[in-house]
Amino acid sequence: MNWYGKKILVTTSLRSGMDLNDLADRISAETGVPRVSRDNLSLGALLGQYEADGAIIVEAGRVFFTDGSVEFFFHPGLAVLRIAEIRKGKNDQMIAAMDLKPGQRVLDCTLGLGNDALVAGYVAGESGQVLGLESSPVVAALVRHGMQTYNRGSRAVQDSMRRIEIKCADHRVVLESLPPDSFDVVYLDPMFSSPLTQSSGINSLRPLADHRPLTPEVTALALRVARKRVVVKDIRCGNRLRELGFSYLTGGKRSPIIFGILLKEI
Ligand SMILES: C[S@@+](CC[C@H](N)C(=O)[O-])C[C@H]1O[C@@H](n2cnc3c(N)ncnc32)[C@H](O)[C@@H]1O
Repeated sequence: MNWYGKKILVTTSLRSGMDLNDLADRISAETGVPRVSRDNLSLGALLGQYEADGAIIVEAGRVFFTDGSVEFFFHPGLAVLRIAEIRKGKNDQMIAAMDLKPGQRVLDCTLGLGNDALVAGYVAGESGQVLGLESSPVVAALVRHGMQTYNRGSRAVQDSMRRIEIKCADHRVVLESLPPDSFDVVYLDPMFSSPLTQSSGINSLRPLADHRPLTPEVTALALRVARKRVVVKDIRCGNRLRELGFSYLTGGKRSPIIFGILLKEI
């Protein structure tokens, strides 16, 4: 498979059994990434043999992508801490920007690691809904597998993970196809052009992610689909939100992150 010009493979870890082979076959079918036998080869030798740039490795308890330098795998990351703070009654900047309430529906157009989706899913609760869109087939498959199988931490966080629906699709195509007002909040968090280096999760996502910038056409489509508002995340020092016409910006005073909000006019 070629993803932005990269050739990647699916294989198992060196020690593998039937169950890992089945899972590797499933991930290959889901992503369209060719499945190859490990044949006791080191990762370097395997990539060399197929002239590949990276591989999805299925091992006991973990499925990850590596290109030899970074490893990408699902982890709830800061979402766990953010949910713990929300449970203590503290403010979460993204939830405040969304004005999200239990029972509401969120369309997360840029799922990535699914951390924001997880926090939104926790707040929306069992009666709400979070649908995450991700255009990178590898990211979508690894995060879907992680959300379904991750078994550490609190029951409430695991339940929120299991409820999140993930669709591998370009958000532009999905937004065009949805009826008006289908989700209370439409959320967009595209890749920042200048990365925040302290975010190791996002850095490991970089080789696999879709880096296309957000356009005014997409924000207009998002506003049509939103019943209440569109929320876009950006770095405080960036210009993207102002260039896109967002005048209502919010975020913690000391946070490097801000959120732009477009309210639906009723
Ligand atoms: C910065 S990450 C999102 C991180 C996420 N908010 C989280 O909490 O983990 C952006 C993600 O959006 C995806 N993406 C970018 N453009 C997209 C598009 N047009 N459709 C769907 N996904 C897209 C990228 O592949 C990447 O995984």
